[in-house]
Amino acid sequence: MSAVPRALLLESLHPLATRVLAQAGIDVVARPGAMDEDELIEALDGVQVLGIRSKTHVTRRVLEHAGDLLVIGAYCIGTNQIDLAEAAARGVAAFNAPFSNTRSVVELAIAEIISMTRRLTEKNTLMHAGVWDKSADGAHEIRGRRLGIIGYGNIGTQLSVLAENLGMYVSFYDTADKLALSNAHRCATIEELLETSDVVTIHVDGRPGNAGFFGTEQFKRMREGALFLNLSRGIVVDHVALREALESGHLAGAAVDVFPTEPKGRGDEFVSELRGLPNVILTPHIGGSTEEAQSDIGGFVANKLASFVDEGNTTLSVNLPGVGLPEQAGQSRIGHVHINTPGVLAQVNSILAEHKVNVEGQLLSTRGEYGYLITDISGGFSDEVLERLRSMEQTVRLRVLS
Ligand SMILES: NC(=O)c1ccc[n+]([C@@H]2O[C@H](COP(=O)([O-])OP(=O)(O)OC[C@H]3O[C@@H](n4cnc5c(N)ncnc54)[C@H](O)[C@@H]3O)[C@@H](O)[C@H]2O)c1
Repeated sequence: MSAVPRALLLESLHPLATRVLAQAGIDVVARPGAMDEDELIEALDGVQVLGIRSKTHVTRRVLEHAGDLLVIGAYCIGTNQIDLAEAAARGVAAFNAPFSNTRSVVELAIAEIISMTRRLTEKNTLMHAGVWDKSADGAHEIRGRRLGIIGYGNIGTQLSVLAENLGMYVSFYDTADKLALSNAHRCATIEELLETSDVVTIHVDGRPGNAGFFGTEQFKRMREGALFLNLSRGIVVDHVALREALESGHLAGAAVDVFPTEPKGRGDEFVSELRGLPNVILTPHIGGSTEEAQSDIGGFVANKLASFVDEGNTTLSVNLPGVGLPEQAGQSRIGHVHINTPGVLAQVNSILAEHKVNVEGQLLSTRGEYGYLITDISGGFSDEVLERLRSMEQTVRLRVLS
């Protein structure tokens, strides 16, 4: 590695990403666009840190050519654009920002629940057409209504708390065991939630089994006049079934932020069965798109990258075992990514003991095929120690950090 680590940041990341890395002593080049495979391979020569969003694909071929690369930051939630298994096999850590935009999604959901319950979009459209439709018909308070949350994760739980604070009753359904926050009611089945909620909102993750899981049968189970929201993944909901449920009057409104196929770029035509329906709020996948979320993502991921480069910490890495150990002044640190087989720790420590290396701290974590060991040492060590560790057959990557 060159004396000063180099970072390449693509896809117009928030300026905080550059600032945090520069403050950590990393030489940063930031570019606005994404790169294709060949461009990326060329640009990664001599680069240790790569920052991307969703448009740059870090493929196996890219990784095969990126011998200097240590760490990849996905400045978003999804990491499908990175070959994570190949990165792990090369000891390249990857990080993302799983929580940074969750509050933004929650606030949009709350805004939409109130807007639909008061039929604001219809009133607004009529006003712009010069129609003064002053009437309370079909307009309600959200206070005292029941919100059903499907998927009680980072977003679902925050929404639960805010909705209760606004006077709603909250039910949730999650396939995993989840602690109910405050007075929220845990439904034993999704059917129970659908049959008892005035507003149903989906916040599940994008695991393959969730594709098309919400369709005609689920809409039929919902209460007459109920509202529906999906701000999770476009593949989860059958939009033809949703249109039917809205046109028949069974549902009173819907808010949809994510679509099975979305236009590639800003300004491209948006095609959907849901266009042109009253009391339906359509937004272009902006649930998490706020300046606050962008700034949070920029800082969060950059801090993870800097901490990995500087201290070897992998806490919240999406592909390597998570190890986080504060560094002590005056000590050296060795980071050892290895194949997770029995006896690696004993072997490392016998090499260290043979060479009378004084271990001050050590932390090991494993994740599937791989293990990651951080060893803090005082008093130095010889090159032979490193050679012996490097030549262990289980060693994937060895780094001396200070
Ligand atoms: N619209 C946007 O801009 C935007 C922004 C951020 C996140 N998201 C999406 O929102 C969703 C939720 O994000 P999160 O951070 O809360 O995720 P999370 O992983 O913290 O929570 C998802 C929850 O859904 C549960 N779950 C999965 N499948 C389920 C099913 N079939 N039935 C019931 N529960 C199920 C999981 O057990 C988990 O508790 C994700 O799909 C994410 O991609 C969208």
